[in-house]
Amino acid sequence: MDAILGVLNIMAITLVLLYGVGAFVLPGRVECVMRWCGAALALGQVGAAGYLWSVDWRFAADVVLVALPPLLAAVAFAPPMGGGAAWRRPAAAMAALLHGYAIVSPPAPPYVVDALLMPVALAVGTGLAWLWQHRIGDRLRRGVRVAVAAGVVIGLVLAGVVAGSVASRLPDAANMAEHGAVDNGGGANAGHGGHGGTDISTLTGPRDREPDVRYTLTARVGRVRLVSGETIDAWTYDGTLPGPELRVHQGDLVEVTLVNADIPAGVTIHWHGLDVPNAEDGVAGLTQDAVPPGGQHVYRFVAEQVGTFWYHSHQQSAEQVRRGLFGVIVVEPPTPADVDLAVPAHAWDGDRGRSTALSVTGGTPSTGVTRHAVPPGSRVRLRLVNADNQPRAYAVTGVPFRVAAIDGTELSEPTELTEHQLLVGGGGRYDIVFTMPPSAVRIALTRDDNTDSDTTPTLLVSPDGSGEARPVAEGPVLDPIGYGSPADTGFGPDSTFDRTFTVLLGETITFYNGHFGQRPTINGSVYPNTPAFAVRQGELVKVDFLNRSFEDHPMHLHGHHMLVLSRNGESTTGSPWWTDTLNVAPGERYEVAFRADNPGLWMDHCHNLEHAADGMTMHLTYEGYHTPYEVGSATGNQPE
Ligand code: C2O
Ligand code: CU
Repeated sequence: MDAILGVLNIMAITLVLLYGVGAFVLPGRVECVMRWCGAALALGQVGAAGYLWSVDWRFAADVVLVALPPLLAAVAFAPPMGGGAAWRRPAAAMAALLHGYAIVSPPAPPYVVDALLMPVALAVGTGLAWLWQHRIGDRLRRGVRVAVAAGVVIGLVLAGVVAGSVASRLPDAANMAEHGAVDNGGGANAGHGGHGGTDISTLTGPRDREPDVRYTLTARVGRVRLVSGETIDAWTYDGTLPGPELRVHQGDLVEVTLVNADIPAGVTIHWHGLDVPNAEDGVAGLTQDAVPPGGQHVYRFVAEQVGTFWYHSHQQSAEQVRRGLFGVIVVEPPTPADVDLAVPAHAWDGDRGRSTALSVTGGTPSTGVTRHAVPPGSRVRLRLVNADNQPRAYAVTGVPFRVAAIDGTELSEPTELTEHQLLVGGGGRYDIVFTMPPSAVRIALTRDDNTDSDTTPTLLVSPDGSGEARPVAEGPVLDPIGYGSPADTGFGPDSTFDRTFTVLLGETITFYNGHFGQRPTINGSVYPNTPAFAVRQGELVKVDFLNRSFEDHPMHLHGHHMLVLSRNGESTTGSPWWTDTLNVAPGERYEVAFRADNPGLWMDHCHNLEHAADGMTMHLTYEGYHTPYEVGSATGNQPE
């Protein structure tokens, strides 16, 4: 898929250059170049589009409906041997340009307007180009002609840059729930989520009784030294990297007081994977205001889900999480394992560059070997947390093990694995369990897209905390789609869905907030033009994720867990696979479903937080709710 997309882009650009040069620069006989090379490239493009279509129509729809018609026009207009009519060259070049534009900067669905605009743009552009070449250009001396042409081109480009840059500026203050197009997913109109109805700031956890556990987390700037020696200019909760590991019991009413000592831009805490009431979700500008230096905010929620979760700031999250404003929160089961350890992995920007470090429950991270003593015979649970943007693979060597949970949800009857790698996407969590053998167990990273450094951290669990790491046994990567046994989930692929949404992950070249560059897109758009998925409480919702880009996108829905129904057309055959952060790799298609049972306004975004900061965010909005908060530079709230 990546390869086909690459080919599609390269051929489109080649065609534009070829036709542009043929029409406007090279005098004389270039007809054969335009004809035959053009035809060959067009054939290639049609083939590539056909391939995309064969995988899924939604991968190909914009190419077929918007980009291919001008391509065919370009080939048809290419002048025959001997020159042909004077309009042919500019028309062919213009058509090639439109094709190239539609490929490099794909339109947003439903594509109808773009498809209709193509012939109009072609006619106008051809007319102007022809006028220039054969009516105006003719009358000027060569030097003047070149100067005027260059002036016009430069002027147009500059005007385009300024207009694009200005138009893409994010507003100083905006209501997040009012952005973009509302998508009703084929269901009844579930409104706008913008005005009226219930104020989501009233959707708090219980405020009327004593909490079972209380924590205070203080966000501050500070230097921290890793065990392996690197110094980090960090932003921390409570001065440690990661922040303190919070451990609570199922059913506890948890109260966390967030204090901001001196993080200039303000902070929040989002409880990643915990489906808390909307007002406790910690998104600056959507569910609360960012907490300024000297300020504080109290979160309260009942820990209903047992499992491994993490918390992090959702104010300028790309930067704040990277610099350390995150930690692990575990909701312990009624009968925990004998030894229960969380193992977060994060790439730190230290004085020796950027490298990944592992830590173990409460310990300071190390980019080297972290040792931990565990008595043989103990039942061990390790909670692997990928607190970064990109996937990591772990190899477990030295003991047969099971994957007990994914993204904080227990799997049904997981079977024993030996020498398997576990691929954990950005923001994702895998819990593994095993019985401690009399010899050392090694957890090593076998793939890490979060750093270029070749130091790979290792966790060595052994009876006395010493012992040698045996060589990593890589083995196949576990595929959750067929792991464990099916169990009842209340709904599945054959259910009737109230709404079905499509999320086409792609990329484009565009302006975003005044800056030009390549941007990841959702349905061809960047925030705030991305869709808001509108639902009503209680509905059963299906979402199709399709990745037509060159990068992984770990898609995270706040406040809900999604049940994976299928991947690339293949249904889940193993344990129910619930996820809150689903890594969608290039070319992959997933169908997921969830019950809309947690009302409010929720973020739904790529958890590659750099992508989110570039506009890869959208929302899930329940009918009848609105937020009193705003985002934008004038509000102090910048969730990404
Ligand atoms: Cu872990 Cu919206 O984030
Ligand atoms: Cu992404």
